[in-house]
Amino acid sequence: MAHGYTYQDTLATSEKITWRIEDIIGGAKSLDFRKPFMPETLARTQALGFLSPAEQKTLNQIRGHAYLSIFGVVEEFILPFLLDQTRPQLQKNDHETRALLNFASEEAKHIHLFKVFRAEFERDFGHHCDVIGPPEAIAKAVLAHSPLGVALAILMIEWMTQRHYLDSIKDAQDLDPQFKSLLKHHWMEEAQHAKLDTLLVEEIAAKCSPAEIEQGVGDFLKIGMFIDGGLEAQTKFDLEALARVTGRALSESHAREAFEVQRQANRWTYLGSGMTHPDFLATLGEISPAGRKQVEGIAPAFC
Ligand SMILES: [Fe+2]
Ligand SMILES: [Fe+2]
Repeated sequence: MAHGYTYQDTLATSEKITWRIEDIIGGAKSLDFRKPFMPETLARTQALGFLSPAEQKTLNQIRGHAYLSIFGVVEEFILPFLLDQTRPQLQKNDHETRALLNFASEEAKHIHLFKVFRAEFERDFGHHCDVIGPPEAIAKAVLAHSPLGVALAILMIEWMTQRHYLDSIKDAQDLDPQFKSLLKHHWMEEAQHAKLDTLLVEEIAAKCSPAEIEQGVGDFLKIGMFIDGGLEAQTKFDLEALARVTGRALSESHAREAFEVQRQANRWTYLGSGMTHPDFLATLGEISPAGRKQVEGIAPAFC
């Protein structure tokens, strides 16, 4: 417990950050399709040299659409999980109850925000882009695992959001300012979520037997593989959308290369960047040194 996070401090920070969906999207705040949406470290579209710069930018924007849509989808399992975790402790600690309810409320706001974004994107982009789902089916599959496995998966997601914003988005000058603003506002609240989920993982783990810890780590890995299957499907959706928008059919070898590069870009974005985050690994190592070793062993395949 070297991190020093507390429910009280995190609640206090979260209460100072207040933005409304209406303040950050809609009206004059529209997306600028002349610019890329995603940083190249996550998009990896420039690696596809057989695409023109305009096609690379279009794929980048399709990836941006998928990015916020996928966060919307995963937050649909985070929200019920938090409510389930909060209810049994309602009487225990007022700061904890309020911090976790705030966490849940912010995720509900993000789910709503990303739905509004998706409608705006499609309106202005002029093409439909498919996203994996439906969210209820994904939530059902994830929540069938043990609470520790789910909490670890959420912890990985919260830390990866931090890493994306701080390492690749905050100082990027070339991205669409509106898309960047959505990422920034999301990140501001996610910063508290990473701390709260750290406390939650520790609390759940403290009640687990060694066998349950082992099961939790195993469930975390199963959820990771489930997400990886979803990313493969999303990669296909994104490349199909690119083909519809550009009207261009790639040769077999270029199509294969596009799929491999983009699947790996998705793996890094949604799995590798979280699995290798030092704060995620620190928490995992604290509850299961063997689990940390295992995750560190497989992480390079997702980077
Ligand atoms: Fe969120
Ligand atoms: Fe979050």
